[in-house]
Amino acid sequence: MGSGREGSLAAPVLPAQSRPFASYGSALHIALPQPPRAGQLLTLHIDYEAGEGPGVCWLSPEQTAGKQKPYMYTQGQAVLNRSFFPCFDTPSVKCTYSAEVKVPEGFTAVMSATSWEREKDNTFIFKMSQPIPSYLIALAVGDIVSADVGPRSRVWAEPCLIEAAKKEYDGVIEEFLVVGEKLFGPYVWGRYDILFMPPSFPFGGMENPCLTFLTPCVLAGDRSLADVVIHEISHSWFGNLVTNATWGEFWLNEGFTMYAQRRISTEVYGLPYTCLEAATGRALLRQHMDNTGEDHPLNKLRVVIEPGVNPEDTYNETPYEKGFCFVSYLAHLVGDQSKFDGFLQAYVNRFKFQSITADDALGFFLEYFPELKEKGVDTIPGFEFDRWLNTPGWPPYLPDLSPGEQLMKPAEELAELWAADGLNVEAIEAVDIAAWRTYQLVYFLDQILQKSPLPEGNVERLSKMYPKISRAQNAELRLRWCQIILKNNLEAEYSKVKDFLHSQGKQKYTLPLYRAMWAGPEAARALAMETFSATAPQLHVNVQNYVKKILGLEVAEN
Ligand code: BES
Ligand code: ZN
Repeated sequence: MGSGREGSLAAPVLPAQSRPFASYGSALHIALPQPPRAGQLLTLHIDYEAGEGPGVCWLSPEQTAGKQKPYMYTQGQAVLNRSFFPCFDTPSVKCTYSAEVKVPEGFTAVMSATSWEREKDNTFIFKMSQPIPSYLIALAVGDIVSADVGPRSRVWAEPCLIEAAKKEYDGVIEEFLVVGEKLFGPYVWGRYDILFMPPSFPFGGMENPCLTFLTPCVLAGDRSLADVVIHEISHSWFGNLVTNATWGEFWLNEGFTMYAQRRISTEVYGLPYTCLEAATGRALLRQHMDNTGEDHPLNKLRVVIEPGVNPEDTYNETPYEKGFCFVSYLAHLVGDQSKFDGFLQAYVNRFKFQSITADDALGFFLEYFPELKEKGVDTIPGFEFDRWLNTPGWPPYLPDLSPGEQLMKPAEELAELWAADGLNVEAIEAVDIAAWRTYQLVYFLDQILQKSPLPEGNVERLSKMYPKISRAQNAELRLRWCQIILKNNLEAEYSKVKDFLHSQGKQKYTLPLYRAMWAGPEAARALAMETFSATAPQLHVNVQNYVKKILGLEVAEN
């Protein structure tokens, strides 16, 4: 509990400096008057206050999209909910919950719950009837309204965003859910709603059951960033139903979810597009491993998280994209997509409502395919399951993304042309990018970034030639364009970096840009300092602290 009254039952509180992540609260020790009998039911009533910890975010009106009313929301993953309410804050324990939430007049409360009732006196009653881990309990209160977008789905947002939210997702969510159910089995959570968060929300999406929290950055106007929604929907089976028992095996949540996301995407958008999207994911893994060195201990699927270490500090692309490669490798061993889909469905059915380890998952895989077990597929030299889990580095197996070549090749060739010393303008002008999809442009920009700095003058010309890119409103394009500006030290366009960082606070956009600024010349460092001092109060406290670390500023004990 953040600043809770801890009462006579609590253990003495150590000074903040001697406790790891002190702002998260402290353990509540409860001494029972007499030892309970086995099987005895105990009811415990705990009075507490919360609100100062990192799990509960209080936003002023200026920090919302509408700028009229304050807003509050909680973000539990990975271990923040212990500052929201007393709980066994580990993904290995699941329980149901109910909550009664009273809010001021003119506000609406929503939660990750299977039932939602509005009573008189601005009171809302929530019940989650399925067992879930503590990190999936989430609450938001604000000036929010809703609109239906499907038979079991609505979007929630501040009034100024609701039209855009409805337009972006009207009629499409149900298709994603139906495909998910066909592939992975019943959707057990009743409703699937989406809450569009204020711009400072630190993630692209958070899979709170029944109610995904989503950054407003995905409101691109053309549905081009729907992969984030498909990702969060995929967690309905992988993560929310079958959960990693420890944060050291986070890849069980995210790697399986990336695989599931791309299976749904393949069914809905086809293989070429999905391979293109997966190639941009692979580029992120490449960038991450280049930055950290392949041998970094966090570049293993199974991470050792020592006591006192915040699991959040281990967050990186490995559980997502190396995890995706490992699940793809399992599918490759099976060799038949429909058989592997059958396995995924059986896996969900076998472990639903449980928390499991990688050994459970892989043990079940070998049990489900006894002929593979017989062949010893878990010990093929170079591809041992043990190596996948415990050796850092680039994945030993990469799924074949060549079906995406028809979309990737033109982007690669165009990037080659722009990286050349003397520009072949004729060849460049012959390529028409007008009809390119957002992810084709993203892929192109990743190639440009990789080849940057480009020869003198090329990026300026590129900027002029493609306003579709340099003036893009799409957040994924803006991120890449800002990275290119910084890597090429294009001071004339620094204001774009500043504007982008002022417009949103997503961690995956914010940190790479501060890292790039800090690695740059004096002017870039000054831009970083100036931008951070103006935007820090808007950022989630954890994101603030990560930026401080990048900029060498002192981080308060947390
Ligand atoms: N569960 C994660 C977000 C998360 C991870 C929050 C760890 C806190 C700690 C969510 O499902 C996620 O992965 N979001 C991605 C979406 C992307 C992979 C499509 C994001 O926010 O970028
Ligand atoms: Zn995820």
